[in-house]
Amino acid sequence: MTQIKNIGVFTSGGDAPGMNAAIRAVVRAAMYYGIEVTGIRRGYDGMGKGDFFTMNRKSVSNIIQRGGTILKTARCDDFRTPEGRKNAYEQLVKNKVDALVAIGGDGTFTGAKVFGSEYDIPVVGLPGTIDNDLVGTDFTIGYDTAINTVVDAVDKIRDTAESHDRLFIVEVMGRDSGLIALRTGIATGAEAILIPESKTGLEGLFNRLEFGRKDKTSRIVIVAEGDDTAGGAFEVGRLVQEKFPNYDTRISILGHIQRGGAPSCMDRVLASRVGAAAVEALRDGHRNEMIGLINGEIAYTPFEHAIKHHQGIDPNMIKLVEMLSM
Ligand code: F6P
Repeated sequence: MTQIKNIGVFTSGGDAPGMNAAIRAVVRAAMYYGIEVTGIRRGYDGMGKGDFFTMNRKSVSNIIQRGGTILKTARCDDFRTPEGRKNAYEQLVKNKVDALVAIGGDGTFTGAKVFGSEYDIPVVGLPGTIDNDLVGTDFTIGYDTAINTVVDAVDKIRDTAESHDRLFIVEVMGRDSGLIALRTGIATGAEAILIPESKTGLEGLFNRLEFGRKDKTSRIVIVAEGDDTAGGAFEVGRLVQEKFPNYDTRISILGHIQRGGAPSCMDRVLASRVGAAAVEALRDGHRNEMIGLINGEIAYTPFEHAIKHHQGIDPNMIKLVEMLSM
């Protein structure tokens, strides 16, 4: 058992619904074990600037249902430099913080990995990103809420598509990953999906539109932000319109609504479980690991493994989009 007295907690990178539930779990679990908690505002940026405050039971009251992050978040160039990390470490020592819980995605863990190798401070991470693009957890905190937001929006788009006999190209988030597009494509009965991990390509899309059922009155194509088929939904839309002038085509970019809103039950429970497990992991001597959930069990994955590898796309899921949208 490691003697940890004061855990610093922060959120970094893009916000995700459920981050507040994770912060709450870290604070309450730490209190349960008699450990103090220091909140660090605006991620690594606030760490370097010493933007710290003491957290207690009340600091996390009534936040489990709130989207965003009460600790705020930022992307920080300074932390990429040795000087920036030295500043951050000095601030932690000054404030007597002797362990860290970092909540975020690959950028957050890249920083944590370097920091943990340079300085003798245990750091563990919680997967907080809507993109679900980390290895070592079945789902990331925020993904479930985001895909439900997308499904709700696309269902509404489907109503207008159906009324006007239109084809909609809908762009969803996922800079490097098509996991939001894949799942929501299945859930909304999309005609086709374009994702960075599969090579459907423009020809593949045209074929699906050309040889698909002719009596369809509405069509939805979901494009992941990171797909490089044509350079985004607008360009895909333009090329589809050019190829099929008889289709009444519209483009819709869902954007940051996917990052907001109250977290789903699944995200709240996931965040609560991994948040409490992070405190226990630090007590047990874990460091430089992300705490995730695999098949319902807490799983520990070294940062470098969590960020380096893609959890992969199940080809059967891609086939399912095709098979079921006939
Ligand atoms: O949180 C991840 C993500 O949603 C990516 O899919 C997207 O590319 C990125 O954030 C956009 O973030 P921002 O607008 O904050 O730079």
